[in-house]
Formats: sequence, C-alpha cells, structure tokens
Amino acid sequence: MNFCNLEYLFRKKQNFIFSDDFITNVLDITKVEHYSVKALKYYGELLKSNETIIQIDFGAGSRGFKNNHRKVSDIAKISGTKPQYGIFYQKLISYFGIKKVIELGTSLGIASAYFSSVFSDSYVVSVEACPNTVEFTSNKLKINNFNNITLINKTFDDFFNETNPYYKYFDFAFIDGNHRKFAVLSYFEKLKYAYLKDVNIVVIDDINWSLDMHSAWQEIVKNNTNSTCLNLFRCGVVITGFNLPRGEFCLNFVKKPSEKEFYVI
Ligand SMILES: C[S@@+](CC[C@H](N)C(=O)[O-])C[C@H]1O[C@@H](n2cnc3c(N)ncnc32)[C@H](O)[C@@H]1O
Repeated sequence: MNFCNLEYLFRKKQNFIFSDDFITNVLDITKVEHYSVKALKYYGELLKSNETIIQIDFGAGSRGFKNNHRKVSDIAKISGTKPQYGIFYQKLISYFGIKKVIELGTSLGIASAYFSSVFSDSYVVSVEACPNTVEFTSNKLKINNFNNITLINKTFDDFFNETNPYYKYFDFAFIDGNHRKFAVLSYFEKLKYAYLKDVNIVVIDDINWSLDMHSAWQEIVKNNTNSTCLNLFRCGVVITGFNLPRGEFCLNFVKKPSEKEFYVI
C-alpha cells in the first residue's frame, strides 16, 4: 500500500505518482467550479430547513439518530455527502467525462445533486427504500430544478432483482447505504458485472464506519489489483480502465498553508 502525506506531496508535487494534470484538475479541490454552486446551495438549504421526516431504516442503522422522527437539517448534517467530497466527486466526473451515474442510497439527494450538475446532459439514477424520504427528496429536487435525477423507491436487493440492469450502461456508481461487508461486496460485484461499463468508477462511502466496512474495502482492493484504489479514509474510490497508476493510494484532506482551503491528494 502506498501511503502519502498530503502536505509533503504538495510541496514535492513533481515526485508524486499522479500526473500534474490529475493533481490540478481532480485532487486539488480548492478551486470551486461553476457547476458546484447549484449543489452547494441545495445542501445549504437543507441545513437551514425546519422540516422533519419519519425515516424507515433499511440499512445498518445510524449512530447519529435515536429515533425515526428526524429533522431534515440533521439528516443533511449527519448522513449527507460533505461539500469537500461532493466537489471531489464532481472533479472526477468532469475530468473523466462521466455522464451516467447510479447511486445506492439517495437520502436527501445531496450526492445526486453533485453528480447531476457537472454536465447538462448527464443522467443520475438513485435508489432509496424509505418511501417518506423518496417523497420528500423528489419534491425538493424538483423545486430546485434537478431534472436529470430519477429516484427509484426500492430496496437495493429488489432493485437488483427486479429492474432491467441497463446492461453496462453506467460509468460511475456510488454505494452509500447498508454499510455491511457482505452487502457492499455483493452490490459492488453486481454493479461491476451488470450495470457498469468496463471503464468505470465506483465510490464506496463509509469504508471506516466499522471494522466490517474496513474489511469490505480491503477485500475490494485485494480483488481489483488492475484498478486505481484511492483511500480517502471516509470513502474509497475504485477507478478502472483509465490510464492511472494501479494499486491503493491513501489520500488525506489537508489544509493549505493559507489555512482556508482544502486539498485532497
Ligand atoms: C448515508 S444515506 C445516503 C446519503 C446520500 N447518498 C447523500 O449524499 O446525501 C443512506 C441511505 O440509504 C438508504 N438505505 C440503506 N439501506 C438500504 C437498502 N437496503 N435499500 C435501499 N435503501 C437503503 C437509507 O434509507 C438512507 O437514506
């Protein structure tokens, strides 16, 4: 495993294993592009919301909530995709020209909002089992003009069993629900073999949420030696078929000397 210290790498950029182009356009997230603004605003609105939802949990549970009656602002804060990751995913999407995204675990649609707004002709399919969440999110996305996101109200298992797999249709998958090793490994395999093109990116969130999830990530890395596996501690990114160094690379967010901006490398 290659372990990289960000600060060091930024100072010694020329020695870093990724190209300057990849560092500047994907790993350096200090420059927020115009396409990020809409999703960042959506996230900000959810953080200010006074609404509540009764959420039915279909996954491995949540450590942040004591019951199912939840404030939207808390859901956004606790289980929503954080801006630095959303921006990083957008940079990946922009750099590799990703147009078709599938997400497992919609919640409030925060990640969907990021995925859908890089290219105007992109298409996002997002699966969520909780009907109340789907109803709330689909209204919110509509009001905020996210018109290229399709929500599917099914459990992940039902989705895989009942839907036409759009054989090799998607370029990017985000697994962000049911954080259990065997579930995640099976979603990963199903996505790779039936839903994703041969050249693809899969992001698995919460790879250090539990020992079980950590072990799922290790297994994915072990089984995908021909891919580039970026370990950002919170999430793991498996990039397959693109011309990048292979193996696992641990990347951290660090503060630039100016202390105001984030880098990810
Ligand atoms: C961490 S949240 C997703 C956050 C979202 N991706 C975002 O960026 O805001 C996980 C979501 O997955 C849903 N979920 C968990 N297990 C599921 C399953 N087995 N089938 C369908 N949905 C599931 C939960 O209801 C929850 O809304």
